[in-house]
Amino acid sequence: MPIVFLVLISFLSHLPILTAQTHLPILTAQIPIFHYNSCFPEEGKYTNSSTYQTNLNIVLSDLTSNAEIDYGFYNMSWGQNPDRVSAIGLCRGDTEPNSCRTCLKNASVLAQDACPNQMEAMGGYDECFVRYSNRSILGVLDKPDFWLYSWTGGNKPADPVKYNQEAKELLEDLRVKAAAGDSLRKYAAANKSGLQSQTIYGTVQCTPDLSHQNCSECLSRAIANISNPCCSDKGIILNQETSL
Ligand SMILES: *[C@@H]1O[C@H](CO)[C@@H](O)[C@H](O)[C@H]1NC(C)=O
Ligand SMILES: *[C@@H]1O[C@H](CO)[C@@H](O)[C@H](O)[C@H]1NC(C)=O
Ligand SMILES: *[C@@H]1O[C@H](CO)[C@@H](O)[C@H](O)[C@H]1NC(C)=O
Ligand SMILES: *[C@@H]1O[C@H](CO)[C@@H](O)[C@H](O)[C@H]1NC(C)=O
Ligand SMILES: *[C@@H]1O[C@H](CO)[C@@H](O)[C@H](O)[C@H]1NC(C)=O
Ligand SMILES: *[C@@H]1O[C@H](CO)[C@@H](O)[C@H](O)[C@H]1NC(C)=O
Ligand SMILES: *[C@@H]1O[C@H](CO)[C@@H](O)[C@H](O)[C@H]1NC(C)=O
Repeated sequence: MPIVFLVLISFLSHLPILTAQTHLPILTAQIPIFHYNSCFPEEGKYTNSSTYQTNLNIVLSDLTSNAEIDYGFYNMSWGQNPDRVSAIGLCRGDTEPNSCRTCLKNASVLAQDACPNQMEAMGGYDECFVRYSNRSILGVLDKPDFWLYSWTGGNKPADPVKYNQEAKELLEDLRVKAAAGDSLRKYAAANKSGLQSQTIYGTVQCTPDLSHQNCSECLSRAIANISNPCCSDKGIILNQETSL
């Protein structure tokens, strides 16, 4: 049920002479700290100083300090039912293990701050997310609660409909590649030039515990769900339950 997830599209216009390396920092600089969270009140609350809270602290501390995992996907569980806590962490496929751990630490603080005493919560940044629950959260595709976001790193595209079409073609190619990934990583990223020398960057990723088919299906839904035509004047579009 892990959120399969993370579709990012970014685009730049009228900067054809800059190198790609110059583009990306500009993009991130324009979105200082992108973060999102989701609470799952239906799973209930734990009380302070409960066994559940102790187990949660253990799980999150293990998850965010594991220096052996270098492929960006973490899963940990601790305790006995009904106080058993399971957590997963996922970093974007291009994240170095060190910054991955820093991001996971921040994300676990964010989830707990945003969803105080919730048994199930998630929090994430651009580069990673953490989710924990009293349920087992590995391998099963959840209800359509994938997170999906996109942004533009420049002006609104001159032809948003055409832009969307180009972006979706890119993401479809990436979906096939990501879904074919192994049990450690299901990630694909690429860029292509669109209209008027715009470069379109795409990244798609599933948690690697999902099967090939479930990853592929979820990404299809996510891609179909990209708002059409894309790109608000503010330059950021959020779909689903994301928040800034
Ligand atoms: C864009 O794609 C080209 C060719 O596929 C690749 O060499 C380049 O590194 C990519 N640029 C970025 C910023 O991803
Ligand atoms: C739990 O503890 C935190 C910090 O110590 C406090 O802010 C919060 O109000 C407490 N929550 C409950 C439900 O007592
Ligand atoms: C993550 O946490 C560190 C240390 O608390 C802080 O310096 C950094 O700004 C945080 N990063 C984000 C993206 O919040
Ligand atoms: C998680 O906790 C909630 C609230 O206490 C409970 O209703 C639910 O059955 C629990 N789930 C599992 C898998 O134990
Ligand atoms: C795909 O997800 C469904 C839940 O939506 C789950 O029942 C099924 O076992 C998963 N399939 C595979 C092959 O993992
Ligand atoms: C989850 O963690 C366990 C124990 O570390 C490991 O054996 C298992 O392969 C992991 N599962 C996935 C899907 O990564
Ligand atoms: C996108 O998701 C929302 C909420 O789940 C749904 O109402 C809408 O129909 C979806 N749009 C597309 C194009 O699938």
